[in-house]
Amino acid sequence: MILLVNGPNLNLLGEREPEVYGSSTLADVEQMVREACAPYGVEVMAYQSNWEGALVDFLQEHRREAQGVIINPGAFTHVSYALHDCLKAMPCPAIEVHISNVHAREEWRRQSVLAPACLGQVVGLGVAGYHYAATHLCGLLSQAAQAATGDDLEPAAAEAYPVNPAARGDYE
Ligand code: DQA
Repeated sequence: MILLVNGPNLNLLGEREPEVYGSSTLADVEQMVREACAPYGVEVMAYQSNWEGALVDFLQEHRREAQGVIINPGAFTHVSYALHDCLKAMPCPAIEVHISNVHAREEWRRQSVLAPACLGQVVGLGVAGYHYAATHLCGLLSQAAQAATGDDLEPAAAEAYPVNPAARGDYE
């Protein structure tokens, strides 16, 4: 099971600065991620909050069952040491997603205090970034399942989204 976590103001996707964040709603994003994970047999638990502590509580609560985290921390990206520590405490990999290209915007958006606690980032590719993060995590799970049992989670899907094992960091 993968956790899909969105931080402050992402509940307003679709109406919030559409020229920056596009017209998809958060429900569209959640549906897209579920559809990306379905061929792998991986379930998605989605959560959004405008509250930092609520995000920490949600991650902690599900840390034992989660096999991966996709997180768009919103503006907490740039300031939240609490979320950094929380992601470090998670036993599974996390991928940070930003819909907009934070490097092409205000200076303060360029720094992520969460990035060092994540496997990687997908930045500036619109809501498709969530899809890429989901298929990457599912590819890792597929490979781990194959290594453990000799079985593949979903062979066809795993081949469609090959993952470079050298890019897996500490998450073997
Ligand atoms: C964002 C970028 C953040 O700087 C901003 O505060 C957001 C959304 C993005 O998805 O591009 O709320 O994370």
